[in-house]
Amino acid sequence: MSDRRLSLHGLWSNRFVFVLAATGSTVGLGNIWKFPYTAGQNGGAAFVLVYLACILIVGIPLMSAEIFLGRTSRRSPPTAFAEIAESQGKSRHWMFIGLIGVLTGCLIMAFYSVIAGITMGYMMRAAAGTFNSLDPKGISEVWQEFVSDPEKLLGWFTLFLAITLLIIAAGVKEGLERCLKWLMPVMGVLLFVMLAYAFTHGDFDRAINFMFKPNFDAINSTVWLEALGHAFFTLSLGMGAILMYGAYLPGQSSIYRLSFAVVFFDTLVAIVAGLAVFSITFEYGLDPVSGPGLVFQSLPIAFAQMTAGHALGFLFFLLLTVAALTSAVSLLEPAVAYIVERWYLGRAAAAAVVGAGVWGVGLFALLSFNVLKDFHPVEWLPIFQGKNIFDILTYSTASVLLPIGGILTALFAGWIVKWAVVCEEFNRSSVGINLLWRIMVKFVTPAAIVLVGLKTLNLLPEDLF
Ligand code: TRP
Repeated sequence: MSDRRLSLHGLWSNRFVFVLAATGSTVGLGNIWKFPYTAGQNGGAAFVLVYLACILIVGIPLMSAEIFLGRTSRRSPPTAFAEIAESQGKSRHWMFIGLIGVLTGCLIMAFYSVIAGITMGYMMRAAAGTFNSLDPKGISEVWQEFVSDPEKLLGWFTLFLAITLLIIAAGVKEGLERCLKWLMPVMGVLLFVMLAYAFTHGDFDRAINFMFKPNFDAINSTVWLEALGHAFFTLSLGMGAILMYGAYLPGQSSIYRLSFAVVFFDTLVAIVAGLAVFSITFEYGLDPVSGPGLVFQSLPIAFAQMTAGHALGFLFFLLLTVAALTSAVSLLEPAVAYIVERWYLGRAAAAAVVGAGVWGVGLFALLSFNVLKDFHPVEWLPIFQGKNIFDILTYSTASVLLPIGGILTALFAGWIVKWAVVCEEFNRSSVGINLLWRIMVKFVTPAAIVLVGLKTLNLLPEDLF
């Protein structure tokens, strides 16, 4: 049914562009900034192992479900859920899943572009040689000075948001596809440079050991929770970003194969980035479990000491910026496409509306690094206690809204969509595999997410897993 329906927004030139775009979405700050420190804090290889399990149980089935729902409907997430539900004889109100997704994307973008803005600022500082021969204390002062200056943060944040919206406004083919076609190769080359440097100059053996020799004792429920949350975030699942890109996918290619390809590339990049970051971390005697500051506070210490560190530092932060940009477009494309469908606005006008909203929320996210650092607005809700606005945004999206969106998407694909539609849309695959997928999204995937969620809220016995 797919190619008979027209997309209002255009289509990718071919399926390889879809893989490029989806990989661009999944590879982002999550791979290069979050994965190394999350793995570092959760037992290294043990975390990697649990993460791989999460990909199989949750990642692949959900990604296939999103591509499927997108390609059959060729609409933005809210319209897709509404129209598919209607065609199955159910209520259009199912669109709420898509609406939550659109909102989640905007909220993620609000804090994502603050971090991406800081990354761009660091890129310029590295190029200018600010870190050269600074001692660790000097480097943490650079960080302090940067984040305590709201105007500087605001400038970089606004610039990043504006670039993202300009690409989106230019259209699916003219904007997204055209940019991705040169941004992705740039990213590949930069990653390769990092890996080559780590291999020749870093403590590569220790990095390999740290990431691949599992200590099974380290696996506990926190590790499972972190791994599941990370799987959602890094695979861009649970808010309709992949669904949206699936809506632009031409032809009849096998959805499972496309999912495997995207998941494979995303994991590969996370591992390569992890090896690069840890090789440098160990070589310069830095702490692998130092947390979110790992790439902004620890790595510059290494860049300061190495020869030509300013060049490598510049390339590293450039890599991070490019990766963030190709993800950012996928966070806002669903919102923009939805406004275009719903209110018949042009893409540029829709992008401006979305931009204004995200800018307003992002303002509070960036003030959480300075003026509003100790402002904890939601003390009455236990899960938000002691959290400032930035922390609330990251927690409520990555740990609450994305998993909820994921459960609902899986249940929708498993229970609302009829089996005949599945067979038609997945006609490139055998019935056995389709059946396995259907069982996953009907039962296994939602159950796994619920289980991990209950565990976090301490509603399960201590020693269950
Ligand atoms: N996957 C991206 C990263 O790893 C972030 C991202 C882009 C995302 N689109 C998303 C996360 C949609 C969740 C949902 O940085």
